[in-house]
Amino acid sequence: MQSYSLLAPGKINLYLEIIGDRPDGFHELVMILQSIELADRIDIKASGTQKITIYCDHPQVPLDETNLAYKAALLMCEVFPDVYANYGGIDLRITKNLPVAAGLAGGSADAAAVLVGVNLMWNLGLTQLELQELAAKLGSDIPFCLNGGTVIATGRGEKLDEIGCLDNLWVVLAKSKTTGVSTPWAYQTYRQQYSDSYITDPDGFRHRRDRVSTGALVQAIAAKDSSKIGGLLYNDLEKVVLPNYPQVEQLKTEFSSIETLGTMMSGSGPTVFALFETKEQADEVAKQVKISIGDPDVEFWVTKLASNGIQVI
Ligand code: C5P
Repeated sequence: MQSYSLLAPGKINLYLEIIGDRPDGFHELVMILQSIELADRIDIKASGTQKITIYCDHPQVPLDETNLAYKAALLMCEVFPDVYANYGGIDLRITKNLPVAAGLAGGSADAAAVLVGVNLMWNLGLTQLELQELAAKLGSDIPFCLNGGTVIATGRGEKLDEIGCLDNLWVVLAKSKTTGVSTPWAYQTYRQQYSDSYITDPDGFRHRRDRVSTGALVQAIAAKDSSKIGGLLYNDLEKVVLPNYPQVEQLKTEFSSIETLGTMMSGSGPTVFALFETKEQADEVAKQVKISIGDPDVEFWVTKLASNGIQVI
């Protein structure tokens, strides 16, 4: 049995619209999700013991069963108990390059990599569809993280339709090290403030989904029209996160005041991103905003949009 090394790319949300409540307590969403090249690395091997062990030297990454990567390994052990008994436990080493609790699906990407890695290590032969079904049990973003690319995600975020390939654009990510936004808090606060405008009937959901999938942003993505894409970025969760997190609002204001294709908060934040045609423009703006913010607590990354999900290296 081999050990495997995998790359687990993060994502940004080009579009996030909350359209209503779901019977399972989650929100019905229409999102456009986009992979980025910035990725964690997961090394996976059999441990020889009946245990799942996580190694990671990032202080914010839990090493216990609260880690989504651990949950992914545990799910595989539970679904395939005979294989688990035969091969033994799983050692996971996580090299964290994606910022933690950032709205970039770092934890979800790690979990997706564990599903792919265990499938290979245990010779399970699960198809991408079967892996996606397991992924959806663990979290709303994990099915996307498996496949990656540029995708419309609906339902909880687990129903995926590929819409093109945007891997020509560059992105600056900015995040305050000490700011964390709880995803449940963001959705719950949104519900408290905006549930009056929620759609309640399935026909309404379908109409909204169709409006986005035939809408201007999807057309701009298909046409690779970068400036149109930048102008059509959208995220409902900004309405609750920006007023409550002045550091996030400040980053958004800074990026909005200079030349970018467009800027938006990713997911439930607190990362703010901006899009660019070239690496030089992205590097230059990251430098400028770093100076104008003047706060060592804020970190910057320059990366490229990507067309892939989990990759074996
Ligand atoms: O599925 P995931 O674990 O990523 O979701 C984290 C939290 O975000 C959920 O517990 C829920 O509060 C909120 N959420 C939601 N509707 C979704 C996805 C997430 O309300 N479609």
